[in-house]
Amino acid sequence: MSGAGRWGSLAVAAACSAVLPLAAQDWVAPPEERTRLNPIAVSADALQKGRFLYRKNCQRCHGEKGKGDGPSGRYGVKPPEDLTNPAKQAKLTDGEIFWKVSTGLRDGADVIMPAYKREIPADEDRWKVVLFVRTLALPPPSPNR
Ligand code: HEC
Repeated sequence: MSGAGRWGSLAVAAACSAVLPLAAQDWVAPPEERTRLNPIAVSADALQKGRFLYRKNCQRCHGEKGKGDGPSGRYGVKPPEDLTNPAKQAKLTDGEIFWKVSTGLRDGADVIMPAYKREIPADEDRWKVVLFVRTLALPPPSPNR
């Protein structure tokens, strides 16, 4: 009797996970979000704010340089992306990064990446984080050139 009950709830759980819109494999921003442009111009001030917010919120998973080697990232459900990879960055639009940072990513009950709408409530601050994320892909200046 109780065995049948257990299987019943398992079936419900399976059905629920099948309809979850945000499976980790398809973390895709809606088209209208993808095409949004960053309204914040690059400036030393904006980048400094973006860097500050990145260090406070993102570094623990993404690592200081964006390699995905932060202490929490290594033990997460899924390792973070390597944001220093220019090819990876080229595939992301500013609007998509903004949307991903704002809404985060969950896989059922697991938080893969937190949503930052609350921690970083001002849109313009999240756009500054996007500006900073873009600098992670820049190749470091070569001393010989
Ligand atoms: C708890 C760990 C964690 C924190 C904190 C975190 N992230 Fe992530 N992030 C991830 C993981 C894991 C992925 C890869 C998810 C995937 O692609 O399935 C990711 C992916 C990304 C991506 C790439 C998305 C893509 O499609 O390639 C960007 C950009 C990003 N994070 C930015 C940020 C920023 C900016 C912050 C801070 C505001 C942040 N993340 C905080 C774990 C984290």
